[in-house]
Amino acid sequence: AEPPPFRNEPLLDFARAENREAMAAALRKVESELGRTYPLILDGRAIETPDRLAESVDPSRSTRVVGRVSTADAGHADRAVAVARAAVGPWSSTPAAERAAVLVRAAAILRRRKFELAAWEVYECGKPWREADGDVAEAIDFCEFYAREMVRLAEPRRRDVPGETNVCDRLPRGVAVVIPPWNFPLAIPCGMTVAPLVAGCAVILKPAEQSPVVAAKLVEILHEAGVPKGALQYLPGEGEEVGQALVNDRRVDVVSFTGSRPVGLLLNKQAADTPPGQDHVKRVIAEMGGKNAIIVDDDADLDEAVVGVLQSAFGYAGQKCSACSRVVVLEGVYDAFVARLAEAGKSLRVGPAADPDTFVGPVIDADAQKRILEYRGVALQEGRVVLDVDVSEQARLGSFVGPLIVADVAADARVAQEEIFGPILAVLKAKDLTDALAIAEGTSYALTGGLYSRSPVTIERVRREFRVGNLYINRTITGAAVDRQPFGGFKLSGVGAKAGGSEYLLEYLLTRSITENT
Ligand code: SER
Repeated sequence: AEPPPFRNEPLLDFARAENREAMAAALRKVESELGRTYPLILDGRAIETPDRLAESVDPSRSTRVVGRVSTADAGHADRAVAVARAAVGPWSSTPAAERAAVLVRAAAILRRRKFELAAWEVYECGKPWREADGDVAEAIDFCEFYAREMVRLAEPRRRDVPGETNVCDRLPRGVAVVIPPWNFPLAIPCGMTVAPLVAGCAVILKPAEQSPVVAAKLVEILHEAGVPKGALQYLPGEGEEVGQALVNDRRVDVVSFTGSRPVGLLLNKQAADTPPGQDHVKRVIAEMGGKNAIIVDDDADLDEAVVGVLQSAFGYAGQKCSACSRVVVLEGVYDAFVARLAEAGKSLRVGPAADPDTFVGPVIDADAQKRILEYRGVALQEGRVVLDVDVSEQARLGSFVGPLIVADVAADARVAQEEIFGPILAVLKAKDLTDALAIAEGTSYALTGGLYSRSPVTIERVRREFRVGNLYINRTITGAAVDRQPFGGFKLSGVGAKAGGSEYLLEYLLTRSITENT
């Protein structure tokens, strides 16, 4: 039977008592499961490396261990690639509709375990409730969406003429190495993993060092849904060790990465190498961040703009590649906008992620906190402080950084050019729309961008000229929805097709043309 058309998973309404209670119960249950040990999953076998355990800690309370994971070394990577190679044949000869059905089953399990998975995200990544729920919903969307897209792509394309049949069909590229980030700990690893799987590839998942436990849950769910053991292996470990071994392995066909620019560019360069014995060029898909700007026009609805900018800048403490880190305000409303932004910013609720009222949680770990605090020092030099939220209380327990807004920042300042990945927002003044667009586009990133304006002429011009991967008008610039807003940037923000869009699966497929003379 035809599956129903794709529809985005609805978000939970935490204003409803039953959802609040279910989430509180899930948090209690998960709390009782913290601190367990997780093995590698290699060829379907659980492998413990007791002398090489890595700790995943709760960023809201740094003494709380969420889990201890075994970490892989180069030898494990070598075996995993051999297993994956052997798995490609049988898995890719499974009909596409059956592979798609596995993803739909995975979506059903994710749905069933929604509260529990969101609770794991709260503890492992410091995600506030709403953000955690959004992430689980997006993971479900990726499964449901790529399942349907694969069924569509698997339909052979026919162009017969008299005396000749012509068909194009799709073959999987082979072995995909998936290296996701920690900031959407279920959705992004899930999307990056199920796309190659449904395409018939075998996947080796190297989870982010900060979120291996949520990734372990994902792998467990995908195996339960019917992904063959050899087609999906779980290899936590250090990027420099296991990540490097995987990316440089000549039997790997695709390297799919989401994370920082320096790492993305390094992997892209390494994967381009074709040493003797390697008979193909590796495909690289790399999503590498942003320095995203929202333009505020002088006729914008400032109430809307203030709320949209605060949510885009400080949701998940600014730790989204889509986050707003620059707001470019036209001269005419600059002072009024800055005053209102500062005033509204005071009511941002900072606290532990498990607290239902929290809007800004901790940053991911002590290293991130240190890096962001260094940028704080830079921001204080480069701008005029208009909001500086004190988090000294929270910072006794976890890796908190207070939301900071600095105004009057120059377009070439470091805080206006470098991706900070934390709760720091720079406000820049523009003379007119031409100036605003030049400032907004004046970085080497081009991922998301936004505009608040009431003028149809301005909106039309910005639609035409603002070259970013995801442009949002009169709304927040984060939270791209699968299928509705395929996600991915231009310039040094990334390479490869947009996630959650129709072209994404093609990254993992080869197209073969078959002609028969009849
Ligand atoms: N897709 C996420 C967003 O749009 C970022 O990775 O916010």
